Amino acid sequence: MIDQETIQRIMDAARIEEVIGDFVSLKKRGANHIGCCPFHNEKTPSFYVSPSKGIFKCFGCGEAGDVVKFLMKHEHYTYPEALRWLAQKYNIEIQEEEQTEEQKERQNERDALFHVSEFAQKYFADLLYNDEMGRAVGLSYFHGRGLSDEVIKNFGLGYCLDEWSNFTDHARKNGYSDTVLEKTGLTIFKEETKKAYDRFRGRVMFPIYSISGRVLGFSGRVLSSEKQAAKYVNSPDSDIYNKSRILYGLYQARSAISKANKCFLVEGNIDVISMHQSGVENTVASCGTSLTTEQIRLIKRYTPNVTVLYDGDSAGIKAALRAVNLLFAEGMHVRCVLFPDGEDPDSYAQKYGSSALQDYLATHEDNFVIFKTRVLLDGVKNDPIRKAELVKETVDTIALVPDLIERTEYIAQCAHLLDVPEEALASELAKAVNRNRLKSYEEEKKENVQSNLNTQNIQDIQNNPTTQPTSEPPASLSLPVDPAERHLVQILLNYGDQTLYQSVSADDGTVQEYTYTVAQAIVAELQRDELCFTDPLCQRIFDYFANTLSQGQEPDASHFITIEDEALRSFAISLMLDTFRISDTWRQKQVFVPSLEDNLQADLTETILSFKLKCVADRIADNARRFREVKDDDQMMQLLAEKKQLVDLRRQIGLALHRVIN
Ligand code: CTP
Ligand code: MN
Repeated sequence: MIDQETIQRIMDAARIEEVIGDFVSLKKRGANHIGCCPFHNEKTPSFYVSPSKGIFKCFGCGEAGDVVKFLMKHEHYTYPEALRWLAQKYNIEIQEEEQTEEQKERQNERDALFHVSEFAQKYFADLLYNDEMGRAVGLSYFHGRGLSDEVIKNFGLGYCLDEWSNFTDHARKNGYSDTVLEKTGLTIFKEETKKAYDRFRGRVMFPIYSISGRVLGFSGRVLSSEKQAAKYVNSPDSDIYNKSRILYGLYQARSAISKANKCFLVEGNIDVISMHQSGVENTVASCGTSLTTEQIRLIKRYTPNVTVLYDGDSAGIKAALRAVNLLFAEGMHVRCVLFPDGEDPDSYAQKYGSSALQDYLATHEDNFVIFKTRVLLDGVKNDPIRKAELVKETVDTIALVPDLIERTEYIAQCAHLLDVPEEALASELAKAVNRNRLKSYEEEKKENVQSNLNTQNIQDIQNNPTTQPTSEPPASLSLPVDPAERHLVQILLNYGDQTLYQSVSADDGTVQEYTYTVAQAIVAELQRDELCFTDPLCQRIFDYFANTLSQGQEPDASHFITIEDEALRSFAISLMLDTFRISDTWRQKQVFVPSLEDNLQADLTETILSFKLKCVADRIADNARRFREVKDDDQMMQLLAEKKQLVDLRRQIGLALHRVIN
C-alpha cells in the first residue's frame, strides 16, 4: 500500500501532458494538447489533454480520465503500478505501508520480470566495455560492423559471455530466483538434470525496449558463422514480452518518427541501428516476426506514413508483399524502397556511407502498388493466364487503398505498366471495392446486432437474397453503390406498391387503421430527415417515386423499363431482376427463403435504419474531413460537438436496428 500523502505528492508532481506525451504524439492547440486517440483507431485527432484540469478525453470513443487512469488503461497497470511508474518518472520516494501477501505476490511477479530484465541489460552492457572477453569479442564485433560507441550505448547493446551459466550465476548471487530467470527466458533449465545455462551465451545482445524505455526482452546474435547455431535467438513471450506487439527501435525512434511524420520499416536489428547512425533515426523493425496489425497500430500512433525498405532478394520481396496489404488495411500510406540485390540498409550504409544512404532513400522511394506490380510482372513474361491473375492481384491491393484519388492514380499507373486499358482496370476495381464495402458493411451490421442475437437470425440476414452481391458489374462503375442504398432502392422498385397497415389507438380508446404503401413510407421517412443518396442513379429513382407521389399519382416501377436514359434503365432493371433471379435459384433448390413479402414491415424498417446508419457514417466522415482543414479553435469545438451528436445518433440507430432484427 502506498500512503495517502505519497499519493498526493505523486499526483501533484505528475504533468498529464508529459506522461501521455510519452505514449502519444501530442500537439499544442490553444490551452489543450491534442493527438490521435490510442484507445481506438482514428486518422484525425479527437483525443484531448487538458494540462490545467489534469484530464484527458477522447471525443471519438469517449475514453476519459486522469493521468493514473490513462496509465492503467494504456499500459494495463494496476492502480499501484501506475502510481509507482509515476513515482519513478518524477523521482518520488514511496513510503510503503503494509501489504497483504497476495498483493505483494501479484505485484512482485511482474516487477520481478522487469527488474531482472533491466539487471541483465546492465550486466551485458557493462561486460561489453569492462570485461576483457567482452571487449575482445563483443565490442570488437560491433566495431567491426561499423557501429560507433554512441549508438552502441544508445541502443543498450551488450555481450553475454561464452560460458555455460555466467549470467545465471551472477543473477542468482544478486538474489534473483530461478523462477524469474526461467520466466524471462534468460536461463534455460535442462529437463533431466535441471542444470541451468544461459540462453544467450556467447552472443552479442540487443535489448528490446517498451515505448517508455523499459527492457522487456532480448535478441541475441551469434558471432561465428557456424551454420549449426541459429543466427538470432530471441526472448520467449512472457508476462512482459510479446513479440507481436513490439517494434525494435521504437523507443529510440519515436520522437523522430513524429517529427518527420514518417516511419521507415526495415528487416533487421542492425539495419535499425545503422540507419540511426546514418542520421535516419525514424526507423523500426519487427522483432523477427512478419509484421502484425498490432505493430502497425503502434506506428500509427505517431504517423500514418510508412516506407518499407527491403532488400532485392526474393525473400525480402516476399516479406514486403505480405506487409503491404496489412498496412493498407490499417489505412496507412505506404511507400517502398527496394535495395539492390544482396544489399540491405546496413550493408549499403557501411559500403557507401551515410549521405549515400540518405540519397538512395530520397531518390528510390516508390509507391507500393507500382512496386508490387513491377515485381509481379517480372514473373509473368508472356503467359496470359498469369497476367490475368496479376491484374486481379493488383486490383485487389489497390482496392484496399482508402483514398479515392490515390486509387484513381494507381489505376492509371498500373494500366500503363500492365498494358491493359484503364477502363478495364477501373471496372475490376469497382467490383473489388464493392466486395470490400459489402464485407465491411456486413461486419458493421454484425457489430450492431452484437451478442444476444441468436444465430438463426444472423443466418437469415446473411442468406437474405436481396443483400447478396451480384456477379454482374454494378451499372455505375466509377461510383460503386453502397449496399444500404442499393437495398432501399431495390425495395422501392420491387415492393413500392405493396400495402402496409398500422393501427393507432386514440385517447378515447377507439382504434384507427391506417393503410399506406411501401413507397409512401420510404419517401416520408427520407424526406422527414432530409436524407439523400450518394449514388446519383439511386437518387434519380427515388426522385421519380417522390415526385409522382407528390402529384397524387401512383408510381410504377415499370416506368424504368422503357426509360430513354440507358444508364438509369440498365441500373434499375438489374436491381429489379436481381431479387427475382436469386430467389428463383433458391426456390429451384427447394430451400425455403423467407421472402421480402413474408416480412415486409420488419425488412423495410431494417433497411431504412441501415440506410440512415450509412448516411450518419457519411456525415461523420465529412465531419472528419472538415476537421482536418479547420485552424480555429471555436470551429474545431463546434465540429467536435457535431461529431459527438452524430456518434450518439449512430449508437441510437444501431440500437433500434438491434431491436428490429431481434
Ligand atoms: N531473425 C530472427 N531469427 C533468425 C534470423 C533472423 O529472429 N534466425 C530476425 C532478426 O530480428 C533479424 C531479422 O530477422 O534482425 C532479419 O534477419 P537477417 O536479415 O537475417 O539479419 P540481419 O538483421 O541482416 O543481421 P546481420 O546483418 O547481422 O546478418
Ligand atoms: Mn544485415
